[in-house]
Amino acid sequence: MDLPTRRPRRLRRTAALRRLVAETRLGVDDLVAPLFVREGIDEPVPVASLPGVVQHSRSSLVREVGELVDLGVPAVILFGVPGHKDARGSGASDPDGVVQVALRDLRDRFGDEVVLVADLCIDEYTDHGHCGLLDGFGRVDNDATLARYAEVAVAQAAAGADVCAPSGMMDGQVRVIRGALDDVGATDVSILAYAAKYASALYGPFRDAVDVEIADGGDRRAYQQDPANVRESLTELRLDLAEGADALMVKPALTSLDVLSRARSIVDVPLAAYHVSGEYAMVHAAAERGWIDGDAVALEQITAVVRAGADFVVTYFARSLAERLQ
Ligand code: PBG
Repeated sequence: MDLPTRRPRRLRRTAALRRLVAETRLGVDDLVAPLFVREGIDEPVPVASLPGVVQHSRSSLVREVGELVDLGVPAVILFGVPGHKDARGSGASDPDGVVQVALRDLRDRFGDEVVLVADLCIDEYTDHGHCGLLDGFGRVDNDATLARYAEVAVAQAAAGADVCAPSGMMDGQVRVIRGALDDVGATDVSILAYAAKYASALYGPFRDAVDVEIADGGDRRAYQQDPANVRESLTELRLDLAEGADALMVKPALTSLDVLSRARSIVDVPLAAYHVSGEYAMVHAAAERGWIDGDAVALEQITAVVRAGADFVVTYFARSLAERLQ
């Protein structure tokens, strides 16, 4: 028998050999925990479609972040669930809005021990559920929305955010937000731009978590990207970089591994991926039925996202992975 001289299996024989040659090592430092904070509740409220995820009260949020800090998780990203919604999404920029209050609580309690990222969008706060302001025809008005994002950024910075993460996919949002932050002296606040963000069916459970329903059965296809496109994502990434983004994010994660891989080869700034609510929910649903080993699949998926090129991953598995990666 003519056997090949190259035998890759030699290096797979023992666990120690496999550890030695591993190309990707997922660590606690790679994880960002998305957290929801809801106005006007005293006890956390579970999110049915995201097992293990809750809408936090002010105090349960501080407890949760304390536990994440103890586990070594370097960053959290906050989403607000306001008590009141209106056409302009006023709560997003109100100094006493739910996320601003939470940012101040967390900054007071944890100082610089944890990176506080604030998702910067208004969809959680608008009564129509869109990420922007609507014009007279019910369409999202790009440039009017930019002025609102500037107000939100300034409020988040004043409340103690380290990082603003604009997720609304308006053209020019990074430039306007950078300008607004600089104008108020918040030159140290970074921008993590959701640069390539697809109009995905995988955000469903998130919308349960933030009580968002898009008006008139609408969708976000006029501002989020078509999953058919990849070159368009590269354009978006380059634009956000040119507009002053400090780090770039791609979303969802598993359906964008090609985007991550190509992005990694063209940009030098930190690159993030968002393993989104639907990706998390699918793993849980299959695991609940005993069809897959949920813990093993979670580790495999998030490792693959890092392998594809992400420097860090926003994931609802952050806490459970951090517990296992100690
Ligand atoms: C918009 C925003 C969304 C998510 C993060 N930021 C929802 C959307 O675009 O409809 C989705 C995250 C997830 O599904 O986990 N503020």
